[in-house]
This record gives sequence, structure tokens and C-alpha cells, in this order.
Amino acid sequence: MSQTPLQAARALANGDLILLPTETVYGLGADASNAEAVAAIFAAKGRPKFNPLISHVADVDAAAKIGELGPLGLALADVFWPGPFTLITPILDTRSVCDLARAGLDSVAIRVPAHPVAREVLAAFGGPVVAPSANRSGRPSPTTFTDAVEETGFAVSASVDGGPCQVGLESTVVSVLGGRVALLRPGAITRSEIEAVVGPIEEGVEGHRSPGRLTLHYAPDAPVRIEAGAARDGEILLGFGPDAGEPRWSLSPSGDLREAAANLFRLLREADRTRPTGIAVSPIPTMGLGEAINDRLRRAAGFVG
Ligand code: TXA
Ligand code: MG
Repeated sequence: MSQTPLQAARALANGDLILLPTETVYGLGADASNAEAVAAIFAAKGRPKFNPLISHVADVDAAAKIGELGPLGLALADVFWPGPFTLITPILDTRSVCDLARAGLDSVAIRVPAHPVAREVLAAFGGPVVAPSANRSGRPSPTTFTDAVEETGFAVSASVDGGPCQVGLESTVVSVLGGRVALLRPGAITRSEIEAVVGPIEEGVEGHRSPGRLTLHYAPDAPVRIEAGAARDGEILLGFGPDAGEPRWSLSPSGDLREAAANLFRLLREADRTRPTGIAVSPIPTMGLGEAINDRLRRAAGFVG
């Protein structure tokens, strides 16, 4: 059953967990200032405590109160918020975003989501809401209400149905620390879109790292084989483009990267439910949004880091 954004905001204020729809993936949300509620997120997901959470806020003003955006962060926020974009900045307000939420780091991950339901919940609640993807740790992120309920619905006291997530991949994560920019997780906001705002992004910037990227991720139960030409015996092929496998299992029959991103996690889950011997995936172009899709696929196939 689905609750209203107001009921979800009340649950947050009460120290309870919620399912929060966003345009990227469904999140498992809690009051970022409430260490007990935040601990319940780590427990429900089976998430290692060294992996910090993203704080979601209603607008740039609210973001600037918890993190030091600086000129680079402000320029990026101006273009990409609200949207599928997360900034890592020095922490300013350690009371509003508790230590556990930040895994003890002196930085904070901040996002202003664009989904109207998420915005309503954040406006009604009034403070930062930590929300990792609502999957159990290591599994594909949920991009539909049903999948979110199946993953971590047991742990929440309110869940809001926001429909299928339009982006379907987690937000792009960019750190702005010490006057330098690093791309920590590719997403719907592409490398070239970011570079259009702040100039060329360096690789391997010292002191910029994402603890969550060190763990196994996005994996269904069936083994995933990427850059596959055709399905082998017992495999399901998630195709891309015309004439690649069965239309029912196509990420995008027309070869559209946006459509493929929106379908990826849902189709991985649906394929997994049929208990195939494996899930094969057609080659996906690497430019633009393809960088993020290939990143998730490599990780689903077991290549970490
Ligand atoms: O689209 C999204 O970002 C979704 C929706 C619900 O907003 N959330 C999400 O959260 O994907 P999660 O917890 O699954 O991923 C957060 C990522 C992790 O890789 C984590 O390590 C990184 O952000 N992160 C969080 N705080 C950080 C920090 N202070 N420094 C570096 N990386 C950080
Ligand atoms: Mg996640």
C-alpha cells in the first residue's frame, strides 16, 4: 500500500524509515540527524558501516547549510539541481547530518532530487533525508515501487508510490574538495556535461574517493556476461538495438541509451526471476550515458573498482 508524502514526512520525524521515490532509483530514507534511524538503514540493507549515505534536501539553500559548496559546487548545483546529481563537499553541519550517515568522514554527499514526490516529502519534512538505494546491499537498485517494497519494504513504516523511475540509474557523484573536481560515480549527468561547466576532469585525484565503489554491486543471482553476441544455452539475452534477442528482453530495441538506462535494473531483476543459467547483455556504446550503463554492467558481472 502507498502512503502520502505528508505521512512519509511524519514517519521521518518519528524516527522511522520510508521508501522514497526519486527520478533515479527508489531510496530507503531516514532523518539524517537521527543516528538510531540511520543505523536502521545500515541494518536493513546489510550495508557496511564504512559506506556513507547521500543527504537529500529540497533546494540549493538547504544544501549550502549542510555542505560548503564553494564556487565549483555552486556552479554545478546551478546547472544540475534539481536532478540526478550528487555533490561531495566539506561538511558544515554535523548535527543535521550525523557521523554515522557520513561514515565518520569530514565530507558530506548532497543531492536535490527532481522527482515531485521526493520534493514534496523533503519540503514537508524540512531537514536532510539520507537515502541510499532501497536494495539490500550488493543487489540491483529498485526502479519500480514493487521492486522497492520487495527489497526493503519490511523495514519501513511509510512508502510512497512515485511510479517507475525515469532515469533508472543512480545519480552521478562528483566531489568538489580542495578546489578540485573528481567524478566518483558516472550517471545520467554525463562527464562531458560536467566538463562543460567546470572544465576537464582529472583522473585519480588524491583524497577524492568513494567508499561505496569498493564493494560488490548491482548483482542479480544469475551470473552476468557482458558484451555478448548471442544467448548461450539457458541464458537470457538483454539485447540493445534491432535484431538483438527477443523484443521482450530488449533494453532498447531502437538502440536508445536513455531507454536502456531506464530499463536496465528492472530487466536484470525480471530476468533473474525466471532463474536462467545466466544473463547475457549485448554490447552497449560507451559514449555519453553509455559510460554509466557500462559501469553498472561491469560491476553486475563481478568486475569491482
Ligand atoms: O540516485 C541516487 O544517488 C540514489 C537515490 C536514492 O538518491 N541513492 C544512492 O545512494 O545511490 P547509495 O547509498 O546507493 O550510493 C551513494 C554513493 C556511494 O557510492 C557512497 O560511497 C558515495 O555515494 N558517498 C556518499 N558519501 C560520500 C562521501 N562523503 N565521500 C565519497 N563518497 C560518498
Ligand atoms: Mg546503492
